[in-house]
Amino acid sequence: DPELVAAGEKVFKKCKACHQVGEGAKNKTGPVLNGIVGHPAGAIEGFKYSKGMQEFGESGGVWTEENLAHFLSKPKDFINKTKMSFAGLKKEDDIKAVTEYLKSVSQ
Ligand code: HEM
Repeated sequence: DPELVAAGEKVFKKCKACHQVGEGAKNKTGPVLNGIVGHPAGAIEGFKYSKGMQEFGESGGVWTEENLAHFLSKPKDFINKTKMSFAGLKKEDDIKAVTEYLKSVSQ
C-alpha cells in the first residue's frame, strides 16, 4: 500500500536522528535498518549492540512484525536495558506505517 509507505516515511523522520536506510546507509547512533523486517535481531555487521539486544538475537530473536511492534511501542520493555533511547511510538497506526516503510527499503 503506497499510501501507508508514504505515511511511514514521515514517521521515520523520528528515527532518522539515529538510523539510516537506503543505498549507502551507514551505522550511526543506531544500526542501518535496510531489510530489518524479518531479519535476526542484533546482527547488523559492525554495530555494537547492548547486551540485552545481543542476547535477544543469540536466543533466536527475529524482527517479525509482531516483535517490531512490541519493541517500537516500548523499547525498554521489550529489550532489557536497550541502548535505543527512544520513548516509543504511541499510535498503532504509526507503527504499522513505519513497518511498511521499512519493508519497502528492503536492501
Ligand atoms: C535499534 C528501529 C528510533 C537508536 C533498533 C532496532 C530497530 C530500530 C528495528 C533493532 C535493530 C537490530 O536488531 O539490528 C527504530 C525505529 C525508530 C527508531 C523504527 C523510530 C520509530 C531510534 C532513535 C534512536 C535509536 C530515535 C536514538 C536516539 C537505536 C540504537 C539501537 C537501535 C542505539 C541499538 C539498540 C541496542 O543495542 O539495544 N532501532 N529505531 N533508534 N536503535 Fe532504533
